[in-house]
Amino acid sequence: MASLWTDGRTETASRPDEVADQRTADVVVVGAGITGLTTALLLARAGKKVVVVEARHVGACATGNTTGKVSVLQGSKLANIASKHGTSTLRAYITGNTEGRDWLLRYCDDHGVSVQREDDHAYAQNAKGLGTTRQILSACREAELDALWVDEADVPFPFAGGVRLRDQAQIDPMPYLSSLVTELERHGGTLLQGVRATAVSGTRPVTVKLRMTADSQDTRDDQFAITAQRCVLATGIPVLDRGFFFARAEPMRSYCLAFDVPGDITRSMYISVDSPSRSVRYAPTPTGDKLIVGGAGHPVGRSDHPKGAVDELARWATLHFPGAQQTHFWSAQDYHPADELPYVGPLLPKMENILVATGFDKWGMTNGVAAALALSSRILGGRMDWAEAFASWSPHELSGIPTALQMNFEVGLHLAKGWVAPATTPSQTPDEGQGRVSGPPWRLRATSVVDGVERTVSPVCPHLGGIVDWNDADKAWECPLHGSRFAPDGELLEGPATRGLR
Ligand SMILES: Cc1cc2nc3c(=O)[nH]c(=O)nc-3n(C[C@H](O)[C@H](O)[C@H](O)COP(=O)(O)OP(=O)(O)OC[C@H]3O[C@@H](n4cnc5c(N)ncnc54)[C@H](O)[C@@H]3O)c2cc1C
Ligand code: FES
Repeated sequence: MASLWTDGRTETASRPDEVADQRTADVVVVGAGITGLTTALLLARAGKKVVVVEARHVGACATGNTTGKVSVLQGSKLANIASKHGTSTLRAYITGNTEGRDWLLRYCDDHGVSVQREDDHAYAQNAKGLGTTRQILSACREAELDALWVDEADVPFPFAGGVRLRDQAQIDPMPYLSSLVTELERHGGTLLQGVRATAVSGTRPVTVKLRMTADSQDTRDDQFAITAQRCVLATGIPVLDRGFFFARAEPMRSYCLAFDVPGDITRSMYISVDSPSRSVRYAPTPTGDKLIVGGAGHPVGRSDHPKGAVDELARWATLHFPGAQQTHFWSAQDYHPADELPYVGPLLPKMENILVATGFDKWGMTNGVAAALALSSRILGGRMDWAEAFASWSPHELSGIPTALQMNFEVGLHLAKGWVAPATTPSQTPDEGQGRVSGPPWRLRATSVVDGVERTVSPVCPHLGGIVDWNDADKAWECPLHGSRFAPDGELLEGPATRGLR
């Protein structure tokens, strides 16, 4: 299930001796997505000794599986922020994203990374969605963003009206990440792949404990450790529980499909604001342009049948682009913050030695770079005026408390249901491509069959004891509490957990 961006790329894990060679650094950055690698390069350019530690490979999670729109318009995001926060916070969020977008586009221009400049649209599929699009327009006006109202668009799918922001962009994220790695290494930085950070202890310095991912049963976590002045956790959701970010942001999974299309492909970028969500763009490839559609989103581990929604998304694409032939399917997750604003800064208030960046709500192409600018300037002693809208601890979070309470109430329900409901589930072998948790609470088993291979693992999530659920689109186990994901054999894929299923 490679994305259009990662298809055909081979990644090599670092060797144990390469990992053992790295004992000290100024900054250890954990995670080689857009946030981690951009932060690492900015610090390396400023003369810091930087080591990037990546559990899987560059772009393994959200960044390599994104839709790759680089836009400040961002669907209904600006309207959501406007409804919870004042104009100055909305403006600061937009300024940070504009700086993130512009930095990325300048970098791509300077380093020969291909970018397509296109208009972006947030649109309603029918009249019921027009209220949201009007709110988006009014948020743009409030923030003096030069957006336009459009009644019609030259698209083959239902379009009832929407907002256009001119001259945004779209990218293939992998050449961008590769270029960052090349320049990072030129500045003396190091990237370690296949190396998971399992713990961070101490204050100044901090010690980051590491485990080679291929050796996941190895219990000697402290076999490898790097001592550094600072650690940046750019891991999607922070992998340290201090700070409770797992309880302040909801993991949302969604799906993308790429198609060869015989006729014309819609040129500019579109995202619907009403359900079911539809995201559309084209992507140039050596064999011609492809159509990309995205959608079918759900909270991680909480959809009974994600494959049904993905099939429906594919039907929608072939209905509106007749003759479209699917070539790629992929998925990823990102984190929806309770108060709508990203969390970028100290893991705990005033803890300047461990910094985090999360809560980009599927808009990390600009937010991830903005986070990198904010974190690197914080480490280097500078300041971004707009960074207050991205603070990891701030009074503006008060507006997110009702949402956070609701989120955690649902987490409690899923915890209880996960332990009790399997007692009534039949324990026979699941069908091909399916998985099932069964048994009484004291003997729970998670059994799946993929490509004819039956596997049984413990369903108990090593993070905080949630019971995993099967995702029949991804063929993976997902924890409905905070979004950790595991392969059928229990191997950890992503999330706040740092170990696989037993
Ligand atoms: C389906 C989908 C479509 C999207 N489309 C868009 C879009 O069009 N435009 C847009 O702006 N945004 C989009 N986004 C959001 C955007 O892709 C993300 O916000 C962004 O990629 C996040 O980047 P990141 O570097 O913070 O995290 P990631 O890219 O997830 O990187 C985190 C890295 O940390 C590593 N890691 C995790 N734990 C550890 C550990 N313990 N030790 C070492 N490494 C670890 C992971 O393996 C991973 O490589 C989309 C998101 C999704 C889910
Ligand atoms: S991710 Fe927190 S309990 Fe599973």
